[in-house]
Amino acid sequence: MRIDILTPLPSIFNSIFETSILQRGIKSGIVKIKIHDLRDYSDSKQKKIDDYCYGGGAGMVLKPEPLAKCLRSLKKERKYNKIIYMTPDGQELNQKLSNNLSQLENIIVICGRYKGIDQRIRDLFVDLEVSIGEYVVSGGELPAAILCDTIIRLIPGVMNDETSALLDSFQDNLLAPPVYTRPSNWEGNLVPGVLLSGNEKEINKWREEKSLYLTEKRKKHKNIK
Ligand code: ADE
Repeated sequence: MRIDILTPLPSIFNSIFETSILQRGIKSGIVKIKIHDLRDYSDSKQKKIDDYCYGGGAGMVLKPEPLAKCLRSLKKERKYNKIIYMTPDGQELNQKLSNNLSQLENIIVICGRYKGIDQRIRDLFVDLEVSIGEYVVSGGELPAAILCDTIIRLIPGVMNDETSALLDSFQDNLLAPPVYTRPSNWEGNLVPGVLLSGNEKEINKWREEKSLYLTEKRKKHKNIK
């Protein structure tokens, strides 16, 4: 899979992709991530990429020309399955969407900054708008990194233990059960006995019950909101 990320702040991604568990996928070539600095696509001398908002109001808007130039040059190179824009008014990210996106070959992710990107880019190029939740962060870079993380870890060969991504919370609409490691007695707090029993059937039953319990608890909590 290849992911092209368009951003006015490319350096944010260095540490994220260099140090995470996603390194395995990136180093082995299973996933290619290319970060594009929008300033490299600005024709102005000062490398200007933003401008005032027509109609007034505080905040700058990312200009259409650098975005279009970058998008056009990428689209000339290969066919993209999806051009995604990270925005708080997009479709809310969930595991199903990440599963679907992880099946694709080439995607582009556009990060907004300031007030956002010129609407004409959204109208002409973007085919999916994604939000990471009902809150606003300062730019699309962290949301894009979250989106990429959720997608990349689903690609076979990226995770240490391939089954673990499948057992994650939400994969089957159930939250994951609690986990424990050694020591079995930590400052008088004991690991549930069933997990030490070696009885696989009983352990699975316990995990299933805990998953159901936590999922119900979460649902109730959401309703109270
Ligand atoms: N940009 C700013 N806030 C965002 C959010 N919640 N989701 C996606 N992109 C964003």
